[in-house]
This record gives sequence, C-alpha cells and structure tokens, in this order.
Amino acid sequence: MRIVHTLADLRQHLLPFRHPAVVPTMGNLHAGHLALVRAAKPLGDVTVATIFVNRLQFGPKEDFDSYPRTLQADCTQLEAAGCDLLFAPSEAELYPQPQTFTLQPDPALAGILEGHFRPGFFTGVCTVVLKLLACTQARSALFGKKDYQQLLIIRHMVRQFAMPVEILGQDTHREADGLAMSSRNGYLSVAERAQAALLARTLAQCAQAVRAGNTAFDVLENQALQTLRDAGWMPDYVAIRRQSDLQAARADAPLVVLGAARLGTTRLIDNLEI
Ligand code: PAJ
Repeated sequence: MRIVHTLADLRQHLLPFRHPAVVPTMGNLHAGHLALVRAAKPLGDVTVATIFVNRLQFGPKEDFDSYPRTLQADCTQLEAAGCDLLFAPSEAELYPQPQTFTLQPDPALAGILEGHFRPGFFTGVCTVVLKLLACTQARSALFGKKDYQQLLIIRHMVRQFAMPVEILGQDTHREADGLAMSSRNGYLSVAERAQAALLARTLAQCAQAVRAGNTAFDVLENQALQTLRDAGWMPDYVAIRRQSDLQAARADAPLVVLGAARLGTTRLIDNLEI
C-alpha cells in the first residue's frame, strides 16, 4: 500500500487509473471501516482510503482534539484489507487557507436529527467529502449506513452537483452484543461498555413493533426515550422516519428508526432499517 500525504503525490499515484474506488474515513479504523475497503476492492481499478480528522465537522465543545489518531495501526489494517493507496493529508495540506468556501446542504434533510443537535455538522461533512472526492477523483465511494443521514445527504449532494461518482451504502458492522462499531466506543468506561448495546436493543424493539403493525410512532419513540432515560442515558432523539428522506413516517413507505444518546460523556448514534 502506498501512503501519500500531499495532493501532488496523490495525483501522481492516481495517474495510471481510471476508476478509483474511495473510502473516506477519520481513521482509528475498526472492522466496519475495513468492510467498506473490502467492498470497494471489486468496484474500481484502484482502492483508495482517506484518513483526515475534519475540524470543520466538529462543534466548539466536541471532541476534535481528543479524537483518536492511530495512523500506524490504521495503515497495518488497511494494508491487510487490500487497500492500494492511502491519502492522509495534514490540515495544512487539505486546508492551506481557512476553508471559507463551504457547502450548505438542504436544511430539510440536514437541519433535522443529527443536524439539529450538531449545528454545522453536515456543512463540515459535505465540504470535506466534496473535496476528498475531487482530490481522489473517485468514481465509486463507499459510506456506512451507520451514519444514515450522512449517507443520504452525500447522495443528495452528488446528485445535485452531477458529480461523476457512484455512492454505495454499506450495512452497519456490530460487536457481538449488537453495539454498532464506532471510533467513539473507545471513550466508554468498562461499565458503560457493558450497557452500551441498550441503544441498539431499544431501536430493535421499536423496529419490531412497527413490523408487527404498530403505527403509533410517537408512542413508540417516547417509550424508547424512556427506556434509555431509565437506564441513565441522555437521549437526544429516537425517531421513526421514511428511509428515503427522513421525513415523518407513513405506514406505507419503507421506514428507519434512528437514535442518538449520550452515555456518560460519550454520544452514540445508531439506526435500523425496518
Ligand atoms: P468515520 O466516522 O471515520 O467513518 C468513515 C466511514 O465508515 C463512514 O462512511 C461511516 O458511516 C462508516 N462506518 C463507521 N462505523 C461503521 C460501522 N459500524 N459499520 C459500517 N460502516 C461504518 O463518517 C466519517 O468518518 C466522516 O464524517 C467522513 C465521511 C470521513 C467525513 O469526514
């Protein structure tokens, strides 16, 4: 695997290829990230991963400074997963001047759920993803359904700007007890880790009730919030929404249940398609 840190080197190494398949990440890789890399392999003629902790998508009180940076271990894992090229730019390389030119995603999709609780988050995500897809000349790019709203917004961005890249969504990788894998799981204490799968279990109960024909979505959402609160969590939301645009659920459309909650100081998100 080649590791490049500059745009000039990236462009040089991409010259022989016509169809880069790209997996953007913020590093501290786990099996979920590596599954995206393996899924990317057959899609293009070169498999490219990016690692960049993107300051633009962190709020002033969020964990930008403490976000785990584990480049050496990440490189070993990427190589084993069959990645050909890693682009790991410094901040000075990707943002040589302050990135004052940013993207404003549609508030109907980006102002709700995660966007409501993390103002500016999707502006930061879209701005860096647009830039990373341009830098890597991606023709396919893979994203996890773990970040369901992010995936929908990136699809919308690529369609609206007619970018020549196909966006593929991959299923969420989970620990044995159901906890969705996340770089932020490393923040959990042993005691918190032991009850962290409650978020996934609570969403699964919601999904099960809807599958069984329960259409009292508000009641189900409130029950789920109460389950989390009773166990000492601080939920931001549990929401049953349409898969296509995350607007209010109607019984005849494919649905997804999404949740975000804080356990101690760690904020976890998860979702399940119904
Ligand atoms: P990061 O959290 O590092 O995730 C990188 C990619 O891995 C995203 O597409 C995310 O949805 C996916 N992913 C994370 N956990 C997963 C899991 N358990 N199963 C499957 N896929 C999973 O998401 C970001 O970085 C950033 O916002 C980024 C898109 C790189 C822009 O900075």
